[in-house]
Amino acid sequence: TKPVKDNQMALQREFQHFMLKEIYEQPESIGRGVAQYVASLGSSAPSFHALPEANCFEEIQILACGTSLHAALVGQFVLEQVAQIPTRVRSASEFLAAPLPVTRQTLLIVVSQSGETADVLAAMRLANQQSSSGLAGFKVFAITNNSHSAIAQQADYERSVGAGVENSVAATKTFTAQLVLFYGLALAWGRQRDRIPDEQWVTWQSRMAALPSQVDQVLQQDDSIAAIARSLKHTNHIILLGTGINYPIALEGALKLKETTYTHAEGYAAGEFLHGSIALLDHTIPTIALCPTPPFRSDPSLENPPSEGGDQMLKVTQRIRRNGSDVIAIGGSEAAIALPLCDQLLSPFLTVIPLQLLAYHLAIARNIEVDRPRNITKSLNSF
Ligand code: AGP
Repeated sequence: TKPVKDNQMALQREFQHFMLKEIYEQPESIGRGVAQYVASLGSSAPSFHALPEANCFEEIQILACGTSLHAALVGQFVLEQVAQIPTRVRSASEFLAAPLPVTRQTLLIVVSQSGETADVLAAMRLANQQSSSGLAGFKVFAITNNSHSAIAQQADYERSVGAGVENSVAATKTFTAQLVLFYGLALAWGRQRDRIPDEQWVTWQSRMAALPSQVDQVLQQDDSIAAIARSLKHTNHIILLGTGINYPIALEGALKLKETTYTHAEGYAAGEFLHGSIALLDHTIPTIALCPTPPFRSDPSLENPPSEGGDQMLKVTQRIRRNGSDVIAIGGSEAAIALPLCDQLLSPFLTVIPLQLLAYHLAIARNIEVDRPRNITKSLNSF
C-alpha cells in the first residue's frame, strides 16, 4: 500500500477545497480507525492499551461542543445500547451553567477535535473543582485529534482519533473518526461487561471492516448530490429529520449547512417535529429525511433492540408530503440518495456523508469560501 503521505498529496492535487478533500479521505481515515480501535481488539477480553477498563466506572458523562457534541450523542447511543453503560452527554458550555454531579464512579469523557476549545477546558476545570471539594477519584479521558493539545495534556487518559490534520473549518473526517473510537470503546467495554456474545462480536468486527467500502459507495453518488445541492441554491430554510441514532446526524447535517452555506437549517427527531414545528412547513421549505436500511430493522445477528424508527420516518414523511412540502430522502424506498444496506447502529457513518457533500456543494453554488466561513474559526479557544 502507498504511504498515507503520498495519498494525501494526491488528494490535495485533485480537490479545490480542503473540505471536499477531507470528506473524500473518510474511507481511508475510517479504515485506519477501525484497524486501530476495533480490528486490533483481542477476541476474548479486549482492552485498549492504557485506557480504563469497564470495571473502573459505573457511568459515563461526555462533554463537547458543536460537531464533537454530535459525535458524543452517537457515542452515547452505542455506549448505552451496545455496552449498556449509563451515559449522559452535555454541551461543555451548558455544563458550565449547570454541572452534572460527578462521582468516584464517573468516567468523564471530553471530546474535542482541536483539543483547545475554551469551553471544554473550562468544563474540565469546573469538574476538577467539584472533585477537589469532596468527590475526588473520578478520571478524565480526552478524545482529541491532537495528543499535544491542552485538553489531551490535562486529562488522566487521552486518545487521538488519528484523522490527520483537518484544515477546513467544517469538521468532517474528524467527526467519523470520533465515531470509530466511540464504537471501539463501546465494543471493548461491552465485551468486558459480557454484553456482547461471541457471534455478535465477530459480526461487529466484520461490519465495521466493511464501512470504508460502504462510505466509498456513498461518495460515488457525489454528482447527483451536487445536483440536489444546486436545486437548493435559493432555499432559505431546510428541515432535517432523523430518529434514534440518526437524530444526532440530523443535528450534525443542520450544523454543516448553517456554517458552510449560511442556510437556516434545523435538525429534529422525526416524531417530535409533528408536535408543533411542522406548522413551519410550506412548499418553500424542503425536508431532508434520514431513512437508512429499509425497512429499518436491525440486523438480527447483532441482536439490537427492534426499531420502529423506519415506520415512524415513513409516517412523518408521508404527512409532510401531504402538506405539500418536498422530502429529500436519504436511504429508504423513496431515496433521492441511496445508501448501501447496513445495520441501523452503523448507519450514522453512511447517513452523514451525503449531508457533508450537500453542505459543500451548496456552499460552492453560493460562492461561499467554504473552507473559511464567516464569523467562525477552526478552534474556538477564546472569545
Ligand atoms: C464543526 O464543523 C464546527 N466548526 C464547530 O462546531 C466545532 O465542532 C466546535 O467548535 C468544537 O470544536 P472542537 O471539536 O475542536 O472542540
